[in-house]
Amino acid sequence: MVLKYFAFSCFSLLLTACSSGNLSENESKNSTPKVAGEELFELNCAICHGLDGKANVSGAKDLSVSNLPDSEIMKIIKNGKNGMPPIPEIAASKQKMQDIVEYIKGLRK
Ligand code: HEC
Repeated sequence: MVLKYFAFSCFSLLLTACSSGNLSENESKNSTPKVAGEELFELNCAICHGLDGKANVSGAKDLSVSNLPDSEIMKIIKNGKNGMPPIPEIAASKQKMQDIVEYIKGLRK
């Protein structure tokens, strides 16, 4: 009887060890969560500007050397400029605008 109980507690200990192992694995995978602006940038802007802002596809300005103020960046996203179309998906949301402006300013060196 005592032995049976002992075996059982060993088993449950093993289970706990396993599941906590999985947990920490997940945690380390999520240790660099994407900031909101990064995902928006990848979806809406990287196709021309590149993931690092430097791609220069069809005249897209290098965002790592751009030093426009927030208001100008927002204007360009809203209205477009020459080769850049307006991006209404972003312009429609104040939050997305702020996230993306923060993100592209982070691309500056
Ligand atoms: C279809 C290609 C394309 C897409 C998509 C695009 N851009 Fe552009 N972007 C351009 C081009 C081309 C220019 C250069 C415009 C000019 O000044 O002639 C530009 C210029 C800019 C500038 C001005 C840089 C400077 O210093 O003058 C900013 C800021 C910018 N883009 C941000 C964004 C953001 C943020 C997104 C996503 C929401 C985005 N772009 C999506 C093509 C694109």
